[in-house]
Amino acid sequence: MEYILVEKLDTKVGLIRLNRPQAMNALNSGLMREVIETLTAFDQDPDVGCVVITGNEKVFAAGADIKEMAEASVVEIMNSEMIGIYDRLRNIQKPIIAAVAGVALGGGCELAMACDMIIAADNARFGQPEINLGIIPGAGGTQRLTRAVGKAIAMEMVLNNRWLSAEEAYQFGLVNRVYSTEVYLSEALRIAAEIAARAPIAIRMAKDAVNAAFELSLAEGIRLERRNFQVLFGTSDQKEGMNAFINKREAKWQGQ
Ligand code: HXC
Repeated sequence: MEYILVEKLDTKVGLIRLNRPQAMNALNSGLMREVIETLTAFDQDPDVGCVVITGNEKVFAAGADIKEMAEASVVEIMNSEMIGIYDRLRNIQKPIIAAVAGVALGGGCELAMACDMIIAADNARFGQPEINLGIIPGAGGTQRLTRAVGKAIAMEMVLNNRWLSAEEAYQFGLVNRVYSTEVYLSEALRIAAEIAARAPIAIRMAKDAVNAAFELSLAEGIRLERRNFQVLFGTSDQKEGMNAFINKREAKWQGQ
């Protein structure tokens, strides 16, 4: 890998570090391709139960690579693999946690929001500065952001480049937790390890059902949730989980 560092931890956590520090981790096509290839491999790997994507202590990602995009035509941007990869990210079935320190701007903020949870360092800042470039967000920055923080704050961020501090992002519901810069990554890895130790098929169904809340009507979402719930009664993990509860012992998940 040229632009990311990849590790598989013995806690069943897959770790992806964005690694273009000289360009503030700007998300060029090569980097995004490496991210999606690694996520796809983790998704199929039984030794991975949860993924953490992080940058470094100063920057998560400063957005799409402006130098790569600057001269693009409409057709080139429509065909851009880099943007299409955000759609492929939605199809990853295992949970993904973004561990964000420093700036998450533009496509970087959108990448964090495309993950299932965001753990922030206290120096994290979130923004959609595209308006300064004569464009608008193109990978969820007007949609996921608005659903997370509401219209008032989203409008201010998208129209007038307001950045949120970690504390504001927490108050507005964009991030799950805020930790000191020293421990944000270890805490994200700890939470990921806890999730990775849970019943894998139930985790997959749970992620699927919560995400459906953003796309379906309430009636459709409730129906999807019920199907996912019912399907789990065909797994040995459901039998094991309930049997373990009744017999006051710890469950051993098989992912079957
Ligand atoms: C390409 C970038 C970059 C980017 C920073 N760099 N951001 N290169 N694309 N998004 C490069 C700089 O050109 C510079 O390279 C080096 O990284 C260091 O950046 P500086 O600006 O010198 O650092 P600093 O003064 O600390 O400022 C950091 C910063 C600023 C606040 C993050 O770099 C910045 O505002 N970046 C752009 C943020 C942005 O507009 N993002 C939205 C992009 S559009 P050199 O070679 O000069 O050393 C977008 C659309 C998404 O994301 C669409 C869907 C995917």
